[in-house]
This record gives sequence, C-alpha cells and structure tokens, in this order.
Amino acid sequence: MSTSLTEFKDASTIAQKKPEEFWGKIAQQFQWKKPWTKVLDYDFLKPEVKWFLEGKLNITENCLDRHLSTQPDKTAILFEPNNPDEPSQHISYKELHQRVCQTANMLIANGAKKGDRICIYMPMVPELAISVLACARIGAIHSVVFAGFSVKALSARMNDASCNMLLTSDGGYRGAKTIALKEIADEALLSCPSVNCCIVFQRTNQNVAWNPIDKWWHEEIEKVGSDCPATEMDSEDPLFVLYTSGSTGKPKGLVHSCGGYMVYTAYTFKNVFQYTDNDVYWCTADIGWITGHSYIIYGPLANGATSMMFEGVPSYPDYDRFWEVCAKHKVNQFYTAPTAIRALQKHPTSLVEKHDLSSLKVLGSVGEPINDEAWHWYDKNIGKHKCPIVDTWWQTETGGILISSLAGVTPQKPTYATLPMPGIQAALLDNEGNELEGENEGILAIKQPWPSIARTIYGDHERYRQVYFSAYPGYYYPGDGALRDAEGNYRITGRIDDVVIVSGHNLGTAPIENALNEHPNVVESAVVGFPHDVKGNALQAFVIARTTADDIVILKNELRALVSKTIGPIAKPDRVQVVSGLPKTRSGKIMRRILRKLAAGEYDQLGDVSTLLNPEVVEEIKRQNN
Ligand code: PRX
Repeated sequence: MSTSLTEFKDASTIAQKKPEEFWGKIAQQFQWKKPWTKVLDYDFLKPEVKWFLEGKLNITENCLDRHLSTQPDKTAILFEPNNPDEPSQHISYKELHQRVCQTANMLIANGAKKGDRICIYMPMVPELAISVLACARIGAIHSVVFAGFSVKALSARMNDASCNMLLTSDGGYRGAKTIALKEIADEALLSCPSVNCCIVFQRTNQNVAWNPIDKWWHEEIEKVGSDCPATEMDSEDPLFVLYTSGSTGKPKGLVHSCGGYMVYTAYTFKNVFQYTDNDVYWCTADIGWITGHSYIIYGPLANGATSMMFEGVPSYPDYDRFWEVCAKHKVNQFYTAPTAIRALQKHPTSLVEKHDLSSLKVLGSVGEPINDEAWHWYDKNIGKHKCPIVDTWWQTETGGILISSLAGVTPQKPTYATLPMPGIQAALLDNEGNELEGENEGILAIKQPWPSIARTIYGDHERYRQVYFSAYPGYYYPGDGALRDAEGNYRITGRIDDVVIVSGHNLGTAPIENALNEHPNVVESAVVGFPHDVKGNALQAFVIARTTADDIVILKNELRALVSKTIGPIAKPDRVQVVSGLPKTRSGKIMRRILRKLAAGEYDQLGDVSTLLNPEVVEEIKRQNN
C-alpha cells in the first residue's frame, strides 16, 4: 500500500514503465490455485484484454478462506437493518464462509453449475452478498439486478443473459415502504423461459403467489451441508455480468473476469481508503450497482476488512440516519454519493451535530461530479475538516476506481477526482482524437488496460468494440468529459453522450423514450437531463401527442407512471412537456443539444437554430416555458 506521496509516485512510475512487473507483484499477494504464465496480453483495436493468463483461482478463497486462519472471528459483514429497532448483525469471516458454502451447495442442489447465469434480485440483506459469493464459489456468473428496477427491466436483463435461475425475496424494506419483489419477479418470469428455478428468501413475511418453479430459501438451505470446495476458475473466466444503460434502448451487460477484477478492486480499496486492520468501512451504495459489487463485497473482503451493509435509506426514520449509524458502529471510512450529500445538506446541521462522528477518518464520494457546495458541506459538517475526501471517478465498465486521491496521501482538491491511480494512463483528447497537453479540457480517454476493465458486453462483443474502442482507436473511451489543471489533476465535467446521471444513477435516455413511445397517444419523444439541486440532473421529456384534446395533466401522469413501470421509479421524468414538434436537423436527427439548453432555460446559448428543419418549434417551446 502507498502510504506516502513518495510511495505513490514511485508506484505510478513503475506501473507506467513496467505494468506487468507492477501488477504481477500485487497479484502475488493473493491465493492462486495455479500461477499465471503471462501478466498481460492486449489489443485495444480488436479489442481484447487478458490479465494473469492461465492463472487459476477462486475469488471466494481470497475473500473468505484465506482469512480463516488469521482472523476467523473478525466481522466481515456488519449488517444494519432498515428498521433501527431491529438488531444489527455481525457476521464473522468464519460464519460468512460457512453460509456462502452452504448457499453454494443449495444452488448446486437446485441444478446450478459453472458458467450458468444466475440473476439476483434482492433487497440489501446479508443473503444478497452471500448469494453473490455463493455464485462465485461454484463459478456461476451472477447478474445482480437492482431491486428498484421494474418488471420489464428485470425480464430484459434475465433474457439478455439467458439466466437459468433467479434468487429473489418475498419483499424488501425501504424506509417506511415495503416493496413486493416477488410479485415483480413473478410477472417478469412470465416472459423468461430460460429460468427454471426461483429461490425465494423470506424477508418481510408478506403473502406471495407460488409457482411450480418456486422454492423457499429457508427450506432448501436446510437440505444441504456447508462443505463446498471452491471451483477452479481461469483468471479470464467471467465472474459476473452487470447491466448499465447505453445510448440505445438495450442495456449493456458488462462482463467482468475473475483474476484482474479481484486484483484491481482489492488494490484500489486498500489504497484509496487507506484501510487499516480494525477499521469499520461503510459504503452506502446498493449491491445492485457496481459500487456495491466492488466496494462492499469484493474489494473489502479480499482485504479482510469489515464492510457494512445498510438496508435502509438516508431519510428513515429521519434525515440523520446515516450519522446515527456512523456513530453507532464507529464507522471509520464512509463512502456515499453526492446526491445523498445534497439531499442531507438541506436539513438542519443539528441533525448531524447530535451524533458523535469522531470515529470518521476518511470520506468518499462516487457516482457523479460533486459540486463545490456539497464538497464543503461534507468536509465541514461530516469530516469536521479532519477527514480527507476521496472523490472517486470510475464506471461499471472499469470495475474499479481509476481516478481518485488516496486518502491523506495524495493532495485533494475540491470537485476534482485528482490523479489517476498507479497504472492508469489517462489522456484528454480533442474531437479529432489528438492528445491535449498540460492544463486543458477535452474528452477523457485511457491509454492502457488495467486489470479490472470489463472484457466484453454479454453476447455482443461488437457493441463493446463500437461503444468503447471505436471513437478514438487505441484508447478506451469512457464517454465523459474532463478538464485537467497544471498539476495533472482531473475534474470530471460530465457525460458527453446520451446518458444522464440522475441521483447517481446512470440512465440512458433511449430506453425512457422507448417507454414513452409505447403510450398510444405519443407520436415521438425526446428525453434530456437538466441541472437539479439535489439529484444533480433530472429528466425532462418532450413529447409530441397524437391528439391534444386529452387532458394534458392526465397524459403527463400516465407517461410518468409508464416510465416507472417500464424501467423503475428512478427513471421517471421530473418534467413532461407536450410540444407540437421536436427540433430536428434537415436529416431528421433530433437536436438534443438544443433540447438540453431549453430544459436548462439557457436560451442565450442555443446557438444558430436557423439551420434546423423546424426552427419554429424552438420558439414554441420557449413561449410555453415563459
Ligand atoms: O459520468 C461518470 C459518473 O458516473 C458514470 C459511471 O456510472 P456507473 O457506471 O453507474 O458507475 C457509477 C459508480 C462508479 C461515469 O461515466 N461518475 C462516476 N463517478 C464520478 C462520476 N462523475 C464525476 N465524478 C465522479 N467521482
């Protein structure tokens, strides 16, 4: 671990000059069933990336078995329930190992085998993390779907990966609400013929319908023992699929591999958060997102850390829940999203002050740019100016953090993710793909592979090539813009494609438009993001209605409900504006750039609209908004 600026600089130099030597040395700290023959093989043009070639391992041996002799009783997962009156659970490494093995046996007993795709649609309970690890134990590819997603989003993901099995629960708690997960899963399964077994964990004890493929978790687990050898996996075998939005309607299932993913998430966890042995680390993300995969489960457990899992929401029972939980468990590293900070910042600081936050050593931010005001509020009120803030830039595709300061080791700079991690060769490009030097602003690109880069899009390698490697051949193209200061610090300025980050959730506008277009009264629609003080961005839908005779308020409500049902409540547009036309180029392409300016009220920045096919609609939209 780099614990000083000099060590960090040395690591960066070695990683740049001799990446194979650098990563090979780090990988040696793990348990391999068979050593690799070559550290790296890659060609970004194909694209093809392979790390630790022919190395054999099982990631769960590194996350669990390895710690049994040294720290069996240390808490691996600290579970804090949604309801503060329900006791928290301290699951030791020994117990976690035993429960993962038993769950793995339950999966095997129900027909699961290496290479199968298993969908996991569960609330934030320990069994979610246990399911993930149980899949990894037997070499089944897990595909976790965020439990806030709707029927169609769930079935589309299960079908895309032809999942064989679904692990779900009767329901889930979220603040004062109970979500009927099994009901959603049942409806999704109607159109998922590949799934032939559904194991249901009992969390809320609500009534559920029962189908021939359903089995109760608590009954199945009783039938099996807890001795389960770890399946030998090739370093490049897929570990999981995780879906993210793209600029077409179809979600992209990013595939991560076993070896490289393990090495990189473990390395970045330790270095970014400067985790030391007895720390209690808390990442508030949901395991349904990459942050939860890499920095609740794999990265922390590979380091033998204590990782907290929180079932609830920041506002329940009150807006001090995060701070209450930090004080209760004496949390040392706290990692959350800017949207949560902005939401909590709106409430009186007395809600923070009533809790003892003196255990905190490091604060983290992830998922979207953190604005100056939120950064300073976090620094002052939560960190008391004593905790370094790591602003971590990365993506589902990158598997782990690529740009971030190392807490207390490298300099921080408000609103800047700062420096690339050792081994990450970031560059700024102009539109033509020329590298920009020094202090500058441009398109962010990465020049060399790192161990946890996604290897493909499930079932569609060509799309993987097109989306990430074709815009600027020879580079990985993340789709973000950035600026760089004279010291080489990066500040991420936001997406440069049709993806909008709403409350830290990555939402493609295309699937939302597809949902809107399904309404019988919608002819065409376009969705764009506009700045929002809590969510970072919110969505505005411009829709052309077939008839205008209908009550517009009813139509708007129906459209919002339709998006919520098709994708999930997170994708609901804040604003729906009915228009007679959408600004288009003469070739018929919707000018989203203009819609974005209109949605933001930046009328003076519309540019020349006279070349549009229909400049009059711009005037109409402006008039409607005045
Ligand atoms: O636009 C960037 C933004 O989130 C995108 C990735 O989203 P997702 O795959 O859902 O992963 C989120 C969690 C890693 C990026 O392309 N983003 C993520 N972190 C930051 C960020 N933007 C600015 N600063 C960050 N720290």
